[in-house]
Amino acid sequence: MASLGHDVVGYDIDPSKVDQLKAGILPIYEPGLDQMLTDVLAKGKLRATSKLAEAISDAEFVFTCVPTPQDDDGSADLSYVIAASQAMKSLLKPGAVVVTKSTVPVGSAQRVEAAIDRDDIHVASNPEFLREGAAVYDFQNPDRIVVGARSADVAQRVMDLYAKVECPKVLTSQPAAELIKYASNSFLAIKLSFVNDVAALCEAAGADSREVMRGMGLDTRIGNRFLEPGPGWGGSCFPKDTRALASIADSFGLQIPLIAAAIASNETAHKRVADRVMNALGGSLVGKTIAVLGLTFKADTDDTRESPAISVIERLIGRGGKVVAYDPLVNKYDLAGLSLADSPIAAATGAQALVVLTEWAEFKSIDAKEILSAMSGKVVIDTRNVFDQKTWETTGATFPSTVSPRTI
Ligand code: UDX
Repeated sequence: MASLGHDVVGYDIDPSKVDQLKAGILPIYEPGLDQMLTDVLAKGKLRATSKLAEAISDAEFVFTCVPTPQDDDGSADLSYVIAASQAMKSLLKPGAVVVTKSTVPVGSAQRVEAAIDRDDIHVASNPEFLREGAAVYDFQNPDRIVVGARSADVAQRVMDLYAKVECPKVLTSQPAAELIKYASNSFLAIKLSFVNDVAALCEAAGADSREVMRGMGLDTRIGNRFLEPGPGWGGSCFPKDTRALASIADSFGLQIPLIAAAIASNETAHKRVADRVMNALGGSLVGKTIAVLGLTFKADTDDTRESPAISVIERLIGRGGKVVAYDPLVNKYDLAGLSLADSPIAAATGAQALVVLTEWAEFKSIDAKEILSAMSGKVVIDTRNVFDQKTWETTGATFPSTVSPRTI
């Protein structure tokens, strides 16, 4: 928002984050964001404070970006959003708009209104669609911006903050804005579960899944994005948001069976990778060492939350295997049976199998000969299609398929 020219004050309950931001240090890894921070601090467009009144008392708009973690029953925990609303209520200046950016279940705007309990304050919903690893690009080039409010005037006031951003702009109601977020994430998760299931079928039928995805994606009703097969989907959003949408439907006495199916299919995708490794190593992982490339839930982020890579590794260790992993941005991860190496070659040394679980670009230029000569086995399982399979096969690698292709 500061990069759009607005005067922004950031507040956080964690003083170390505030101090880091003041010093121009990002508490997370996100490509391009560090340069943006330096620019807006230099222009005096962004300040950070641990004093809530300093942030709130003069603000025309207050964006709530606090976590909505998953509760035991799968629903979204709104306690941080409500606590933030209560903390700011007496500090807000008349006419201010409190904008929920956090991913919140339908009906949350009313709960925020109740927590603030002031007639001279407006509440709007402005869901975020940025992807980790591409956050700056997605903020500057969104597919759409959505703002929901009780009145079109309030919604327009919030949307005007994005006047410099060219894209479709959706002014709608609070519940519609809240649901657009969950429905979009859940639809993408369902799409990816289908993609991974079809990729497994391609494997069984002896068809190249990339060609099948290209053929599918040329249908503009399907679209050619989010068609990359992998070891399953993960991260801080899809797993939490699919469960939350199922719980929202449940709270209305409704069922969305497709969501439960997508979550189950995703678990199967993780299991399929572990099965493939075990089958390739003679049916048992006991005493076997497996080298893994990638721990983060996808490339270009340091985030391992609900990472499919970790789910697969837990299954390999659960079956008696020892895992040695390398990730460009993760140098610490506590999991019994997992050790981290500081290079792909170090991870591969002595391993019976090599498994690629995150699509880091640097893995494309790994030297097949060097890696295979360091390994004790020749099994390679590339769940992200980063390797040039022909090159690795001519170098001696075997790419075991999930099941033996059946001639039709
Ligand atoms: C997601 C949504 O994309 C974003 O709009 C929302 O704001 C937050 O949640 P993010 O969690 O950063 O963003 O990850 P995303 O890029 O969507 O990937 C989610 C998972 O799907 C990752 O595990 C990724 O590896 C996997 N994926 C994605 C695939 O396996 N294949 C694909 O083609 C795309």
